[in-house]
Amino acid sequence: MSSSERVIIFDTTLRDGEQSPGASMTGEEKLRIAKALERLKVDVIEAGFAIASPGDFAAVKAIADTIKDSTVCSLARALDADIERAAEALAGANSARIHTFIATSPIHMQHKLRMAPDQVVEQAVRAVRKARNLCADVEFSCEDAGRSELDFLCRIIEAAIDAGARTINIPDTVGYAIPHQYGELIAQLLARIPNADKAIFSVHCHNDLGLAVANSLAAVAAGARQVECTINGLGERAGNAALEEVVMALRTRQDLFGLSTRIETEHILAASRLVSGITGFPVQPNKAIVGANAFAHESGIHQDGVLKHRETYEIMSAESVGWNTNRMVLGKHSGRAAFRSRLEALGIGFASDTELNAAFARFKELADRKHEIFDEDLQALVTDTLAAEMPEPFKLSDLAVTSRMGEVPVARLVLNLNGVEREAQAQGSGPVDATFKAIESLVHSQATLQLYSVNAITQGTDSQGEVTVRLEKDGRIVNGNGADTDIIVASAKAYLNALNLMQAGARKAHPQVSGI
Ligand code: KIV
Ligand code: ZN
Repeated sequence: MSSSERVIIFDTTLRDGEQSPGASMTGEEKLRIAKALERLKVDVIEAGFAIASPGDFAAVKAIADTIKDSTVCSLARALDADIERAAEALAGANSARIHTFIATSPIHMQHKLRMAPDQVVEQAVRAVRKARNLCADVEFSCEDAGRSELDFLCRIIEAAIDAGARTINIPDTVGYAIPHQYGELIAQLLARIPNADKAIFSVHCHNDLGLAVANSLAAVAAGARQVECTINGLGERAGNAALEEVVMALRTRQDLFGLSTRIETEHILAASRLVSGITGFPVQPNKAIVGANAFAHESGIHQDGVLKHRETYEIMSAESVGWNTNRMVLGKHSGRAAFRSRLEALGIGFASDTELNAAFARFKELADRKHEIFDEDLQALVTDTLAAEMPEPFKLSDLAVTSRMGEVPVARLVLNLNGVEREAQAQGSGPVDATFKAIESLVHSQATLQLYSVNAITQGTDSQGEVTVRLEKDGRIVNGNGADTDIIVASAKAYLNALNLMQAGARKAHPQVSGI
């Protein structure tokens, strides 16, 4: 197939996705997601914004050093220091890309950059040249292209291509575009820019009006051949275009687009679950492709139709995106080899035998309490095991909760605080409230609870509960996760995980806020 018949899938879950408030991930979690993206056969993985913080740099570097089958990319503002840091982080990659950007809309140039249009063009050209000296594959983005003037876009893009950019990205940064108008913008750029044939045109749409996927598809219909997207549509504010929706729309309506992607769609659900578990952002049940109800037929007429002939009400098969395959996997008699091989099939590897052994011990413990272990249980178990490996100033040693109808619940717990065991007891309006109050009576974090959510990881009352706790303190937001068959224990673990992350986290720069 010629490259013009293929759409390049550029995943930015680890960069723009991580800009969702509360979605920050550890380096190890990012690496795990990068491996799942590689297994999905994503063409380009935007691994982060290397200059943002030492942690971001380390994550981009670890991903660049590990991933072999996808291009690994780092974001960089149009500044020498950013570009040099990106190149340094990407040095070990099999295939690397530097993605440099500058804002091009009148409102951004005037109020954010405080630069004249001529200066912006000059800076963009300098940045692309600099990046090309360090990396053969350079992408240039016109931030806020959706609100930029067409003539100015033509001018800066022509100059960026002349300077060596081989991918030109047209972001709808603020989610302002409407499909037919955005498609027309891409068509105009392709028609008017004299050297447009020397670059691949890319789109990057935000979902503020719920149109990110529709805008991306309109752009593809107009000639764009790269789509920037994220798993579950994670991303800044209302998020980015959802990878699973873009890919399945192109595949299901191949008749219309005549285009394909390299994505191995049967791994989509596992990737979605992994990202949701790590970030603590649950997937809504009616979410297209990966929501629990995406393939569930409730009405009798629909059920009857599907039973007689699936295509009466289904436009794609659940199996094609990973539903219903290998649901039940392991039990308490399964050995280490089966455990390791199932994790490998899920794209989860371990850095050392010690990590594998720790996860296997937890698996055995879980299998004693829970008869059937599903893929989702394994993913939660690995997240839990690896969270326990990070420095944990606050650890749960013991927890007992009494909860009886008509009585005030009481939580008694023992925490290990930096190596010292301390006991506490508290009452609350419910058992979870009592547990959090008991923890706070020892930790005094002064953080505010922003979100508490419990999801059953699998079906049935023996399911593990996966709890997310979002805490905020001094403008910093963290998500803690915990899983257990006892949801009060899961809640305590999630709360402590959030407190530990809060202790560990360093602030990092935001690419679009820090001006040039
Ligand atoms: O939304 C945006 O404009 C971006 C750019 C940095 C590509 O994320
Ligand atoms: Zn963005």
